[in-house]
Amino acid sequence: MHLKPTADNTIILKSAREIAMMRQAGKVVADVVRALEQQVQPGMTTQDLDDIAARMFAAVGAESTALGYFGYPGNICVSVNDEVVHGIPGKRKLKRGDLVKCDVAARYRGYVGDRTGCFGVGGPEALPAATRQLVRVTEEALFRGISRARPGQRLSDIGAAIEDYVSLHGMSVVRDFVGHGVGRNMHEAPQVQHHGPAGRGPVLREGMCLAIEPQVNLGSAAVRMLDDGWTAVTVDGSLSAHFEHTVAVTRDGPEILTLADNEPHARELLQLVSPQGEKERTV
Ligand code: MF3
Ligand code: CO
Repeated sequence: MHLKPTADNTIILKSAREIAMMRQAGKVVADVVRALEQQVQPGMTTQDLDDIAARMFAAVGAESTALGYFGYPGNICVSVNDEVVHGIPGKRKLKRGDLVKCDVAARYRGYVGDRTGCFGVGGPEALPAATRQLVRVTEEALFRGISRARPGQRLSDIGAAIEDYVSLHGMSVVRDFVGHGVGRNMHEAPQVQHHGPAGRGPVLREGMCLAIEPQVNLGSAAVRMLDDGWTAVTVDGSLSAHFEHTVAVTRDGPEILTLADNEPHARELLQLVSPQGEKERTV
């Protein structure tokens, strides 16, 4: 449950042409994640969300990379409340105020996009303040991690930035799952931990594409697996949030590949938390 198998440890660098393909795949999964957030309603089942994703994949000729992965039975993963990752879509009915994480990964024209959205059923207002804070901290932690995805940084600088921010808010980063390289395959080298210390691992280079996907618990970081062999839940029953983006390391800094057309919020957030942005704000 901990490791993401890859063909080997070689980090496959992508050309500008390949990154353009990755951007297209990223847009496909971004559109699905956004549609799920917009369409979710109390009373829908997690299977209903899976059906929406499956129809959107089929409409554009994309293929779920989760379906059949080590026998995984869903098109996407839908994890609710204390479920951390890899929840299997099924008959569970969603209620107003549930915290839902939809992990959407698909191959489109030969390249994979991988994004996870995290939202409240009934909208943000349906979530208690502490849950909204968990969601905000997790997304901001992801963006702080992404902002370190620049040539010359070390791989673990990403996880260190994530963990520092989460710890500052008294929450816990799950250590049992990792992010990953992504390209023609969903899981390529390297594995991306979401915790520090900084300054370890390979030096990041232009052309690396990484899926960064911290899971953050309100309580302890410990997780266990349910009897279905897939669903990971928090041991203490506390809520868990999860955001993920696929990111390219470019000479101009990180490029988020899994954005839909109208997401200025994400670009602004990245500016705000980037080391450059931080510097600009202090002068
Ligand atoms: N996007 C998920 C990840 O990178 C893929 C899960 S596929 C599954 O972890 F089969 F493991 F569910
Ligand atoms: Co992933």
